[in-house]
Amino acid sequence: MSRSEKIAHRRSVTLHMVSSLDGFIAKNDNSVSWLNSTGNVYEAGVSISEEEAATFVKTIDCYVLGSRTYEHALELGWPYGDTPAVVVTGRELPLVRKSVEFYAGDLKTLVDVKLTPRYRSIWLAGGAMLCQRFLELGLVDEIRFTIAPVLLGEGLRLFGGSLTEEKWNLKNVVAYKNGFVELSYSAPTAD
Ligand SMILES: NC(=O)c1ccc[n+]([C@@H]2O[C@H](COP(=O)([O-])OP(=O)(O)OC[C@H]3O[C@@H](n4cnc5c(N)ncnc54)[C@H](OP(=O)(O)O)[C@@H]3O)[C@@H](O)[C@H]2O)c1
Repeated sequence: MSRSEKIAHRRSVTLHMVSSLDGFIAKNDNSVSWLNSTGNVYEAGVSISEEEAATFVKTIDCYVLGSRTYEHALELGWPYGDTPAVVVTGRELPLVRKSVEFYAGDLKTLVDVKLTPRYRSIWLAGGAMLCQRFLELGLVDEIRFTIAPVLLGEGLRLFGGSLTEEKWNLKNVVAYKNGFVELSYSAPTAD
């Protein structure tokens, strides 16, 4: 899909990920307490209320997840509400939520044929494997990268060695009172 077609459909694929300071998005034991706030307050930061967060989440039309992220989300407690979620997998997985559908096949077809005509704001919620494939295929329009104030020392890296040099455009930086920082980038504009 060309840039002008994307604009006509007004679709946007946002890769959203939370990383440790040393670049990990999950611990080897899959525990998630590192995502909790330390209690330290960064005075110059902002905070958002639960209502503001809920209002923002309503702007998301669809989530796309890799199967391992799906399985982990089911274990932790489903964070995506009733918003449609597409899980990419080649396996037969149990369907435990009505809002979920499974997809196997070409990822460009998924975005251009299946998602873009139906949804405007598409959130790629992980994990590393699926995000890397989306980036390699040029299917990501925006990256929202949240850095947690913690070093992990080990775990799963978001960016493996398969990407090539590409300059992205910084669009926004938000520092939160809890020490988390969100960086937003838009993709290079060339078709
Ligand atoms: N920190 C964060 O913000 C964040 C966000 C999301 C996830 N995570 C963490 O990341 C970890 C999971 O990441 P991950 O990289 O291991 O796995 P993943 O990307 O969630 O899932 C990988 C699986 O997705 C399917 N898949 C991926 N690409 C495919 C393609 N092109 N075609 C068909 N199927 C494809 C395959 O499923 P099958 O094997 O079923 O065929 C593959 O095994 C979890 O620990 C999760 O909690 C962290």
